Amino acid sequence: MDKFVIHKSALRGSVSTSGSKNAALPIMAATLLTDDKCVLHNVPDLMDIRTMADILRVLGKKVIFEHGTMQVTAEKKGKYIAPYELVRTMRASFCAMGPLLAKQKKAKVSLPGGCVIGVRPVDLHIKGLEALGAKIKVDAGYCIGEGKDLKGKVIYLGGHFGSSVLATDNVMMAATLAKGETVIEYAACEPETEALGLFLKNMGAQISGEGTPIVRIRGVKSLGGCEFKIIPDRIEAGTFLAASLATRSPLTIKGANALHLTSVLETARKMGAKITIRDNDDMVVVPSKKLLPANITTLPYPGFPTDLQAQFMVALTMADGISMITEKIYPDRFMHIAEINRMGAGVQRSGPYSIVEGRDKLYGAQIKASDLRASAALVIAGLAAEGKTEVMRVYHIDRGYEKIEDKIRALGGKVTRAKE
Ligand code: EPU
Repeated sequence: MDKFVIHKSALRGSVSTSGSKNAALPIMAATLLTDDKCVLHNVPDLMDIRTMADILRVLGKKVIFEHGTMQVTAEKKGKYIAPYELVRTMRASFCAMGPLLAKQKKAKVSLPGGCVIGVRPVDLHIKGLEALGAKIKVDAGYCIGEGKDLKGKVIYLGGHFGSSVLATDNVMMAATLAKGETVIEYAACEPETEALGLFLKNMGAQISGEGTPIVRIRGVKSLGGCEFKIIPDRIEAGTFLAASLATRSPLTIKGANALHLTSVLETARKMGAKITIRDNDDMVVVPSKKLLPANITTLPYPGFPTDLQAQFMVALTMADGISMITEKIYPDRFMHIAEINRMGAGVQRSGPYSIVEGRDKLYGAQIKASDLRASAALVIAGLAAEGKTEVMRVYHIDRGYEKIEDKIRALGGKVTRAKE
């Protein structure tokens, strides 16, 4: 396994935002809705993307991925089984379920299972697909469905924690080929779900309201191929913003859509940063020497994203005062606390709440990454901490950050990859 060896660094310069992993994954799954060729641009080269490409191959597609462009064509007769070996490594593969039911009329997709950030059930996915008329059963760890006669329906998809991104995606995809109109109430409004809606419309789907809580889908007979550019990764951009704050380094983050980051920018400004947006795209960040505390509550979009909670917590450990972080999406997504406290942070957790008592400094230590976003947070902590930090198990970060160490090094960050 690889580790990162990191030394305290001042960062400077500009960094470009890659294409969004979480937009690309469901869009790749959506190519299962057609036999025609789909061409995706600005696809980030990441482990999760490669895993999804392998799932598409198992399901009968030919996938060519070069220089950020992915071509997906039908090679064999479409298959309908997505095996555990592939699905277990990445929950997003469960969004093959909707397209398979709609196109192949059957699906057998391994249930993704538990995950370090929380329980992560799939009840809303199943509720939505069943409402469209799919017959679904769970057997030996697989979700097995039959979708011979899908019919549009009004479906309320809100859950205990609000809307669900991938459940909305799954139902939206299945509904594109169902008979009649589907209305998804309490749909996820995340930009990634909106991007999926736009991609489906390019394929010929009839959808309105994508990116809002009410999405209407009128089923069509078939969908065709199209070309599409993946939107910028707002979480990657937000991660560099957190790195800029934590290391008190001025940075320009290029090619991010600032409108996708309003709650994050507001938080960074409360923490004392001056942020200028150029052409709605480039964010010029000048952090204050003294970081100010801020309270953060993670919420579905456009609220503060759970995927940036850990990174901002690291910055807040060095703020001048006390901050409170409330996790309303994944109440157990706090695995990073034990690690950053070993670096001298003062964070106390009680259930979904964390109190962050700002301290002057963090100190380098050997720490262990637990999931993708926590890994990014630990790398930020290493860049801000005195002395040397070793972040173990960085395979997590390779799942979701394209060329992370190259990007950090280009900004002057001292990070090297080594064997554990
Ligand atoms: N939920 C249910 N039932 C369901 C589905 C979800 O109760 O059937 C709950 C979840 O347990 C959670 C809340 O609903 O409490 C929201 O989860 P959601 O379904 O929106 O999460 P997801 O679609 O599985 C995507 C991202 C995650 C991101 C969440 C929240 C992808 C591939 N994954 O997951 O990204 O944290 O939305 O924004 O898009 C990451 O990139 O590191 C990551 C974990």
